[in-house]
Amino acid sequence: MKKGVEQLLMKIYAGRADIHLDLYRLSNQHRRKHGQDCDMYPSDPLQAPLWSVIASLTHARRILEVGCGHGYTAAVMASAAGPDCHVDTIEGNPQHAILAEKAFQDRDLSERITVIRGRGQNILPRLKGRYDVVFLDGDWREYPRYIPHLRRLTRPGSIVVTANLNPLFGRWDGRLPGKLAIQSYLTRLVRAPHFRTYIVPGEWHSISVRV
Ligand SMILES: C[S@@+](CC[C@H](N)C(=O)[O-])C[C@H]1O[C@@H](n2cnc3c(N)ncnc32)[C@H](O)[C@@H]1O
Ligand SMILES: [Zn+2]
Repeated sequence: MKKGVEQLLMKIYAGRADIHLDLYRLSNQHRRKHGQDCDMYPSDPLQAPLWSVIASLTHARRILEVGCGHGYTAAVMASAAGPDCHVDTIEGNPQHAILAEKAFQDRDLSERITVIRGRGQNILPRLKGRYDVVFLDGDWREYPRYIPHLRRLTRPGSIVVTANLNPLFGRWDGRLPGKLAIQSYLTRLVRAPHFRTYIVPGEWHSISVRV
């Protein structure tokens, strides 16, 4: 998005997209320091208001994230949903998990956010109950394996947001692996009778509602 458009949207949102911006900046600082293998790319702050919309729509009391990073989106989601909501966030990189836990402590969010260490594909089968919102923001090559758990871990009306679809669109550097995994995941999700899915054209996200 052009810088001018970003600035205009920030102005329109008037503070609503600025929440936990310090954590967004810390995430980017960490990635630059950590080096090439680090995939801690925080979500665009212009997506922060989306979490208010989704938390309000679902009356969210339980939120699940795969791919915590430094904790930016988990903090945004927890703040959007309010103190009666708990966020579970899965993180596969132990160093990132430590950074996120520290960030939650510093922001008095530790009681409201739990970091679960491990990879999504190993953790999801062990989770129980229903989540009102699920946000997938980790390794997209695992996404096809999440499908049965997405149904099991949601209720009618739950919303699933899937990020990191950029390899499908050939965006970013066009060389990211896993295009077929994303294609298979989205095809199955779109055809699953228990979900209605919208793939945001040219963007890196899809939004599904469990029916
Ligand atoms: C794109 S970043 C997440 C950013 C975060 N959601 C935010 O917007 O601030 C991806 C994170 O997911 C972690 N990760 C990647 N694949 C994962 C997987 N399969 N299971 C759990 N964590 C994973 C990475 O270590 C990294 O911290
Ligand atoms: Zn890192």
